[in-house]
Amino acid sequence: MKNKTAFICQNCGFHSPKWLGRCPSCGEWSTLIEEIEEEIIAEYSFAPSKPILYEEIKEAKKKRVKTGIEELNRVLGGGIVPGSLVLIGGEPGIGKSTLLLQVSRDFASRAEKVLYVSGEESLEQIKLRGERLGLKGEKLYLLAETNLERIISQAEKLNPQIFVLDSVQSVYSSKLSSTPGTISQVREVTNQVFRFAKKNGVCSFLIGHITKEGSLAGPKSLEHIVDVVLYFEGERDHSYRVLRALKNRFGPISELAIFEMGSRGLQAISNPSAFFLKERPTDETGSVVVCTFRGSRPLLAEIQALVSSTLFTGNPRRMTVGLDHFRAAMLLAIIEKKLGFSFAGEDIYLNVAGGLAIDEPATDLGVVMAVVSCLKNKAIPPDVSVFGEVGLSGEIRSVGQPLARLKEASSLGFKTVILPKGNLSHLERENIPGINLMGVKNVKEALTIIF
Ligand SMILES: Nc1ncnc2c1ncn2[C@@H]1O[C@H](COP(=O)(O)OP(=O)(O)OP(=O)(O)O)[C@@H](O)[C@H]1O
Ligand SMILES: [Mg+2]
Ligand SMILES: [Zn+2]
Repeated sequence: MKNKTAFICQNCGFHSPKWLGRCPSCGEWSTLIEEIEEEIIAEYSFAPSKPILYEEIKEAKKKRVKTGIEELNRVLGGGIVPGSLVLIGGEPGIGKSTLLLQVSRDFASRAEKVLYVSGEESLEQIKLRGERLGLKGEKLYLLAETNLERIISQAEKLNPQIFVLDSVQSVYSSKLSSTPGTISQVREVTNQVFRFAKKNGVCSFLIGHITKEGSLAGPKSLEHIVDVVLYFEGERDHSYRVLRALKNRFGPISELAIFEMGSRGLQAISNPSAFFLKERPTDETGSVVVCTFRGSRPLLAEIQALVSSTLFTGNPRRMTVGLDHFRAAMLLAIIEKKLGFSFAGEDIYLNVAGGLAIDEPATDLGVVMAVVSCLKNKAIPPDVSVFGEVGLSGEIRSVGQPLARLKEASSLGFKTVILPKGNLSHLERENIPGINLMGVKNVKEALTIIF
């Protein structure tokens, strides 16, 4: 093996013979690290490599293996396909190990053989977490090891149905001399686990740490190798976690699942709307519930506005938490121009309760209503929910999937929904019992109805 070194971008895998401050390929700064360049011989040959007629290929109908967590199955597209490799990425401490230990427990309790390999924690540490999760684990095997070849050989010997590697950055292949976590190591580890999974038909999970900037070490190079990429995210100071698919070779990527982290581990939240509304104050000004979407699911969320005289004359604050700043600025301009309010001397704060981040124009009307409620010092009735996109001339535009939004609002006991008139005309034949629908053409109409 030649001992030639190269500088490799840890973000995108770009090679350079000399050090560069900035990667010319992905534009990241200080990501180039010197690594020994080694040639890895491709060993992809688990099928005879000759062309086969499409018709002669046996039907690829794969039975999916269900995890014990229904919400996770949904994100995976109905369960995990045997032989597939799932990468779960997330920031430090978000709960990746907890999630996969729970998944391992569920498989093990159904008498499936599970191998959980940790390159980061001792067996005692894992057991400690296991005790917190109430693990008894009949067929759960643990291995604390950082050498990939030893891990794979143990895995082949044990022949588990489920294989978990925690984490891709902590183990190393002895084929390479670069340190664990570098892009060539991470890639090699992923490749070997991928081959192991395919060859043995094992459902495999890889945990990957995400850097502060939100990228997996060498994200591009890992994402294209694996079958499924899931991201586990959360907000600081909030107990809920969101799991969503970024890539799925066997299912849609729009699904997401919400979990709550508690003392006994992660608990799936099957009714997110109720969860995010549970502490909503009633009869408070500046609060309105919007029917929005996260993934393929409708979600009710509370938007809050606060208007207060500014201390910064000439430069009042416009702060948003959980909403797009520019969109909010646009909506504030519409309120001033089209509704005749003036708040030049006021600070305005907008917030999505519960630490949620929502990014959908259908929440526009909610933002407008919350701000106006505050300006008028009048509360919006607690059983009213709204949705609709607001255009620059104050018109309310139709949004997608109105029926799903209405059903969600109805199931949580909302009695009145203010929605775009355009949506209403398509809904006439649909019947949602117990809910009063008010179609509006512009923001003025919406305000007359409410105030
Ligand atoms: N007793 C407890 N009650 C509630 N939450 C807890 C408790 N113990 C741990 N946690 C939560 O679990 C998190 C750690 O989970 P876990 O170790 O699975 O995360 P991780 O993503 O694997 O982290 P790492 O980056 O260290 O591998 C902690 O940040 C904390 O939020
Ligand atoms: Mg961990
Ligand atoms: Zn790069």
